[in-house]
Amino acid sequence: MNTRGLLEAAEKYLMFVTTKPPIVMERGKGMYLWDTDGHRYLDFVGGWAVTCLGHSHPAMTRALSKQARKLVSASPAFHNRTQIQFAELLLRHTCMDKVFFVSTGAEANEGAIKLARKYGKTHKSGAYEIITALDSFHGRTLATMSATGKPQWKDLFEPKVPGFIHVPLNDLARLETAINDKTVAIMLEPIQGESGVNPVDVGYMSSLRRLCDERGILLILDEIQTGYGRTGRLFGHEHFGVEPDIMTLGKGIGGGFPLAALLAKQRFCVFEKGDQGGTYTGQSLAMAAGLAVLKEILAKKLWEHAARMGEYLIARLREMEKDGKIRDIRGRGLLVAFDIEGKAGEDVVADCLKKRLLLNSPRPATIRLMPPLIIDKKHVDAAITILRSAI
Ligand SMILES: Cc1ncc(COP(=O)(O)O)c(C=O)c1O
Repeated sequence: MNTRGLLEAAEKYLMFVTTKPPIVMERGKGMYLWDTDGHRYLDFVGGWAVTCLGHSHPAMTRALSKQARKLVSASPAFHNRTQIQFAELLLRHTCMDKVFFVSTGAEANEGAIKLARKYGKTHKSGAYEIITALDSFHGRTLATMSATGKPQWKDLFEPKVPGFIHVPLNDLARLETAINDKTVAIMLEPIQGESGVNPVDVGYMSSLRRLCDERGILLILDEIQTGYGRTGRLFGHEHFGVEPDIMTLGKGIGGGFPLAALLAKQRFCVFEKGDQGGTYTGQSLAMAAGLAVLKEILAKKLWEHAARMGEYLIARLREMEKDGKIRDIRGRGLLVAFDIEGKAGEDVVADCLKKRLLLNSPRPATIRLMPPLIIDKKHVDAAITILRSAI
């Protein structure tokens, strides 16, 4: 089937959830994707901050095919070797004690919400409220949509799951007034990704940690976008010098394979038999992908590379800022955004697509860059040249 036929079939068979450009992706390698007409695209979307090793990295494809020949899924009823190996390696590099593997970020956050509520029930007289930030993003299940502070979702799929209070980010006074006897946790992203790359202030994060300790409230960090080297450290919270009580990982953890994780310190691991589960938890193929990705990230210290490349990217963007083309450059490592005049984000994305550069505009005036962590200076230079001609 040619591209036109494929697009017609997509229109006919796929449930509409969003608009997509009229191309069909077929192949990926490193920093590039190819469409069905053979056009090559420089990928600064990175599978939505997912493909940390780039596309079809040999370490991942080797591990996946080896594991597929051996065992795909033994069921969640049994332990499997790869899950135990992966859990051990992952926990050795985090400040957490236990992990529960799932397939998507939303599912990991859903688990974090359940774990916090269970803790509230067993240790805090039934406290269940979770304070989250306005403009945050935590996923698309009903509970994670309820936790999300996206104003556009306020009236969507009502009634929402109760028990979530939204406060403005970096406003300690507002947060303190939201805390009451029913509060069990505060949940936030170290850098808000989907709302356009808005970092948490360092002082605000340390105050949250102190408040949580004083009031016996759990600090849940959603590191689904900021974890796994994306911000120039292995985990985003390392920039703040605080440790969360519960942490969720997704996106980069599977390098493109559907994988996410809920992690917690021992004293908050309060699930009892039957409280949590899932058909694909710890599925061997996903575990093999996760293990291969983590080994590669650790071996190459990719977070350090991401920090260096992020500095270079920001320096090149600063040149554009000096020329008055863009403003408000922000972010850390390879999670970077900037604003442009007016509301032309979608137009810039469309123009760059024509010029074979993939970008994302999370807000009308914002462009976000989240390329694979294996990026090189030459890729940054190529993207800047295209961006300059598009803006
Ligand atoms: C911070 C954050 N949390 C949760 C999610 C949801 O992850 P998933 O789409 O894998 O369910 C995302 C996805 O963009 C995210 O950026």
